[in-house]
Amino acid sequence: MEGVVDYSVRARLTQLGGIDGCVTEFVRVTHTLLPEKVFRRFMPELEHNCLTRSGTPVKLQLLGGNAESLAANALRATEFGVQAIDLNFGCPAKTVNNSDGGASLLREPERVYAIVAAVRAAVPAQIPVSAKIRLGFEDRSRYMDNALAVFEAGANELTVHARSKVDGYKPPAYWDYIARIRESIRIPVVANGEIWTLEDFYRCREESGCEDFMLGRGLMAHPDIARHIKAHLSGQDYTPLSWRQVGTMLHEFHRGTIKQYSEKYIGNRLKQWLMYLRLHYPEANSFFEAVKRQRSVDDIEKTFIEQLHSD
Ligand SMILES: Cc1cc2nc3c(=O)[nH]c(=O)nc-3n(C[C@H](O)[C@H](O)[C@H](O)COP(=O)(O)O)c2cc1C
Repeated sequence: MEGVVDYSVRARLTQLGGIDGCVTEFVRVTHTLLPEKVFRRFMPELEHNCLTRSGTPVKLQLLGGNAESLAANALRATEFGVQAIDLNFGCPAKTVNNSDGGASLLREPERVYAIVAAVRAAVPAQIPVSAKIRLGFEDRSRYMDNALAVFEAGANELTVHARSKVDGYKPPAYWDYIARIRESIRIPVVANGEIWTLEDFYRCREESGCEDFMLGRGLMAHPDIARHIKAHLSGQDYTPLSWRQVGTMLHEFHRGTIKQYSEKYIGNRLKQWLMYLRLHYPEANSFFEAVKRQRSVDDIEKTFIEQLHSD
């Protein structure tokens, strides 16, 4: 997730378990061949064979509208060691859509086809190429055209965020569309959208018929939900992470961001994660309220101590 799930968030979340794979933030591709340092910045896991610290594979996410340039950059990325490419046809951001990328391409399934086909042809056969789509741009009427475009162009996997661009992030997610896609194409289809709880997971599985799921905001809010789902599926008892455990992880995460981002941005990634966590943990709300205007390392550190180690 752009601006949210960077290298260190991926490291923390995958360490908790239950996650089989993850994707970098998107690398925007225009007309140029990007330098190596860009790929390394978005995907520090390149240093570790494209695995997070706990051994979970990471895909490189590319976004853009120029098939030739995406293909050339995808090939280049594989030369630097990238082992899987994911193409973004879902981003709803105005800046991205206005410059020909993300969900705006869903208005032209033939361009989705051209992009996937070009990238598939450019990278070595053993490198999986996946794509992520929404159900459309203005509405959901062309969902199947885009899904077929991805399949016929030779992608190895399709993730479907079950909403149009205009649907935004508003519930519901239309999981039944995913079922129709899954029945029409012969590659794995990953269901995405609006999985916040164990119950949502089971309803999504039922309605989509999928076996693979992508979690976005739900995982940020409830970092061990994937582990909980897996434990439940295999009939194991599961003790959910306590707020104290989440807080300790958050503290380590925050300390890492101090080194990673410039002083101007101190605390931003922490506050952002707390915004999601407060949807699941009531304690995250008071933490967020206490920290939201703080900008110095010392103030934030003091709040951590007050909030997490007060008894
Ligand atoms: C802040 C934010 C950033 C996102 N960045 C990306 C992205 O870079 N690539 C992508 O394919 N989807 C991105 N998404 C969409 C999510 O991956 C996901 O498809 C969407 O949030 C629905 O799933 P959820 O209900 O589990 O969150 C982003 C969503 C949010 C809220």
